[in-house]
Amino acid sequence: MSTATAQFDLTVQRFDPSKDEKPYWADYTVEVEESGRVLDALHYIKWYIDGSLALRRSCAHGICGSDAMMINGHNRLACKVLCRDLDQPIKVEPIQGLKVEKDLIVDMETFFAGYAAVKPWLINRSSEPTTERLQSPEQRERYDDTTKCILCAACTTACPIFWGDDEYIGPAAIVNAHRFIYDSRDDGAHERLEILSSREGAFRCRTTFNCTDACPRGIKVTEAIQEVKRSILYKKL
Ligand code: SF4
Ligand code: F3S
Ligand code: FES
Repeated sequence: MSTATAQFDLTVQRFDPSKDEKPYWADYTVEVEESGRVLDALHYIKWYIDGSLALRRSCAHGICGSDAMMINGHNRLACKVLCRDLDQPIKVEPIQGLKVEKDLIVDMETFFAGYAAVKPWLINRSSEPTTERLQSPEQRERYDDTTKCILCAACTTACPIFWGDDEYIGPAAIVNAHRFIYDSRDDGAHERLEILSSREGAFRCRTTFNCTDACPRGIKVTEAIQEVKRSILYKKL
């Protein structure tokens, strides 16, 4: 059985710092399955038109978070957006606010530094349990939404505060702090809230909601940030 294909026009931001003075737009026409995703279109360019196109991707199924990019002006995962659902030419550029290494690949160092700063691991100072640490369904529900983060950076790089100041810890880091702050088994809430009360912490957020719109996992990012702010202000979990 043959699969129906379709043609799509794309314009992709290209930049190779070893030879280009500045980024430029390159136009391509690709032929992929009718239900092809932007990732398939980029693969077509890389495999059949210009092998020098640089992009990150791994799972191709919305799990690894490596292919966040700006598609028609919105941060999206290229593997989750169908070409046929987009206006053409489909405009593809790197996520904003991080240094471009090549084409669609950005340097994620600043992003992961913010993530590491909030101690995104379980801190538990009680003695080693003999069985697992129990938690009620209600206790688990408290932070369920923020467990869904795949660290794609779509939220942080959609935030205008982060564009202007990459010292701002950013929404992804706050989401991952939230995931542990409200975990009943964790003892590190106080130190994380202290970190997030700093000058570059949660109060830099101006509730713009770009982060919530950008999140491919549907996490209520702004709501999580507001919850963290309230815990800092009222010293209450
Ligand atoms: Fe990506 Fe959403 Fe996690 Fe932000 S909160 S890094 S947009 S999955
Ligand atoms: Fe930025 Fe999201 Fe706050 S876009 S300003 S972190 S609500
Ligand atoms: Fe893994 Fe898209 S390639 S999320």
